[in-house]
Amino acid sequence: MIFDLIDVLPKAELHLHIEGTLEPELMLRLAKKNKITLPYNNVEQIQDAYQFYNLQSFLDLYYIGADVLRDADDFYQLMMAYFESCHDNNIVHTEIMFDPQTHTLRGIPFDSFMSGFNKAQLEAKQKYNISSYLILCFLRHLDEQSALDTLEQSKDYLHMIKAVGLDSAEVGNPPEKFKNVFLKAKQLGLQRVAHAGEEGPAQYIWDAIKQLDVVRIDHGIRASDDPVLLQYLKDTQMPLTVCPLSNLKLKVFKTMAQHNIIKMLDAGLLVTVNSDDPSYFGGYLNENFYALVKDLNINETQVSDLCIKSFKASFLPQSTKEKWINLIHTKQY
Ligand code: ADE
Ligand code: ZN
Repeated sequence: MIFDLIDVLPKAELHLHIEGTLEPELMLRLAKKNKITLPYNNVEQIQDAYQFYNLQSFLDLYYIGADVLRDADDFYQLMMAYFESCHDNNIVHTEIMFDPQTHTLRGIPFDSFMSGFNKAQLEAKQKYNISSYLILCFLRHLDEQSALDTLEQSKDYLHMIKAVGLDSAEVGNPPEKFKNVFLKAKQLGLQRVAHAGEEGPAQYIWDAIKQLDVVRIDHGIRASDDPVLLQYLKDTQMPLTVCPLSNLKLKVFKTMAQHNIIKMLDAGLLVTVNSDDPSYFGGYLNENFYALVKDLNINETQVSDLCIKSFKASFLPQSTKEKWINLIHTKQY
């Protein structure tokens, strides 16, 4: 059965916001512990509130939720809960995004979240043999100076950080706004990714490539509007980290049957499947694959191919990528 295959295949997840894994139960528990008043009293009220009509309507609730995270142990619990779900989903490697400004601008010091993350990452490696990298994301609705300040504050933690990214409200906040901070990050030896072409136009994907020198595009589904871009993405095999359930919840596509991920896969692009903000969008990674089976009829070969691509598109060393890809090719799972 294809659903069993999805469950057992080893996978890498490359587009996951740790703040977007905050489950209602943990949100309520931390709100109580930290004496924070939320606009919800129980799990049902939280779930009822998760009806989104675009990216901004989601971000508004996402930032409210993140406010319950205060000390290192809160961040540890958040990340450890995500690693438990990785174990359940057979995610053996994950590249986790976090939004420092969401926390530092509330007075939470860098050390609180970084030490909580570090403890969880070490424990996940020991307990489940899950490897993980961190991607520091800049909030694009804020100005570049704030991003530069954030990069400066991250200097003591650079050994823990693999890449910088760009997230939050896309339309009206084009990539070129962050040209200088991405150049600085490159000079510090960091990889670069950016959300582009989620709600914004295909031109933002070009701009992320040309102005920010990114090596991977988060979402990128609007590339289908631009045949020249599609050809470029195919020729260069620049990865797209696509998030099907997220796109459905945020009304980027009206139905899953209309999603273009399989069209792009069949066209030879390096697309991957990811969960984005699973607590808010109704499913972790395997649920995203199940949705592609149910509504886009993907077959076992395509499922395996998507898992192979998740390793190809990762920042893992070449030899580790090859190890996982070979395991899948030889069905050693
Ligand atoms: N932050 C968390 N999830 C996001 C998304 N899907 N797009 C932009 N910013 C985000
Ligand atoms: Zn995202």
